[in-house]
Amino acid sequence: MPPQVRLHQILDWDSPQQNAGLRRELAAGLLQPQAYIAPKFFYDALGSRLFEAITELPEYYPTRTEAAIFIEHLPAIRQALGEDFTLIDLGCGSCVKAGKLFHAGVLPTRYVAVDISVDFLRDSLQHLQRELPAIEMMGIGLDFTHELQLPDELPPERRMFFYPGSSIGNFSPPEAGLFLQRLAAQMDSSGGLLIGVDLIKDHALLDAAYDDQLGVTAAFNRNLLRHVNARLDADFDIGDWQHVAFYNAVETRIEMYLKARRALSASWPDAAGRSLRHFAAGERIHTENSYKYSPQGFTALLASAGFADIQLWTDPRAWFALFFARRAG
Ligand SMILES: C[S@@+](CC[C@H](N)C(=O)[O-])C[C@H]1O[C@@H](n2cnc3c(N)ncnc32)[C@H](O)[C@@H]1O
Repeated sequence: MPPQVRLHQILDWDSPQQNAGLRRELAAGLLQPQAYIAPKFFYDALGSRLFEAITELPEYYPTRTEAAIFIEHLPAIRQALGEDFTLIDLGCGSCVKAGKLFHAGVLPTRYVAVDISVDFLRDSLQHLQRELPAIEMMGIGLDFTHELQLPDELPPERRMFFYPGSSIGNFSPPEAGLFLQRLAAQMDSSGGLLIGVDLIKDHALLDAAYDDQLGVTAAFNRNLLRHVNARLDADFDIGDWQHVAFYNAVETRIEMYLKARRALSASWPDAAGRSLRHFAAGERIHTENSYKYSPQGFTALLASAGFADIQLWTDPRAWFALFFARRAG
């Protein structure tokens, strides 16, 4: 009988109180002059699967470039992490990246998988636990933009946070600095952070990575409205919305939007009856930023957030970087 993984479900979409908070957050973003939906809403179960499909696309270089860095620099990564540690995987998704590390012999004592997409997290972690029954595993379903509450039972020593895939790029640099500070506050001086960061590069490569020929990223972006309809009881017609993604060189970020193909309205119930948002033809909902960094820029961000002993590994084309840093002091 395979061991059952423990799941702490801090985020519970079915809790009336939490659901009301998430609905308020969604509605507030949609009613802004520049309508906005936070990227965390991409990840219902289908969104999580669509993201996995994105990682297979020829245009989406981050996943395979990061994987190549792991293989090339495995001995140094193993040495940085050391022995007897807890690996805390932030936004673990399919848990495949952690699984590859484990199969390559980088073995934590304990693996803690954190994700907002709770059903997908449960299935992914159960699968990994069956493959590797010797590692103690625990899932935490939470929204880490609101809180990053680790269970008291986790030892404070040797906490190694793992944040691959350049998800840190979804935060603006000041927000990323605050998030990194929150991580530093969750560890003692024996803890560390292993983080993947996408680097500034040729614009055409970046544009293609977020607007692939097959339209998988477009489906991922448009699926957001399916999720919003389910969460907010809204009536967005997905066929009315077009995927838009481009690199903004001034801000060094990919911007992703959904653009209205025609003038239209969307509505959802609220305390007073129904909220209505009108969109002009061509008007856009902002759905994601993905900031790109220089190695120096991200090193400085880590240092200012309370990290030291910063190590950096990159690929031969310097498309992607993996950093390891310890908590300063
Ligand atoms: C871009 S995917 C990366 C998945 C995987 N770590 C990788 O590198 O391929 C982002 C992951 O973070 C999760 N996520 C996004 N926002 C989150 C939030 N606010 N709290 C917790 N998890 C979040 C998503 O569900 C998804 O699994």
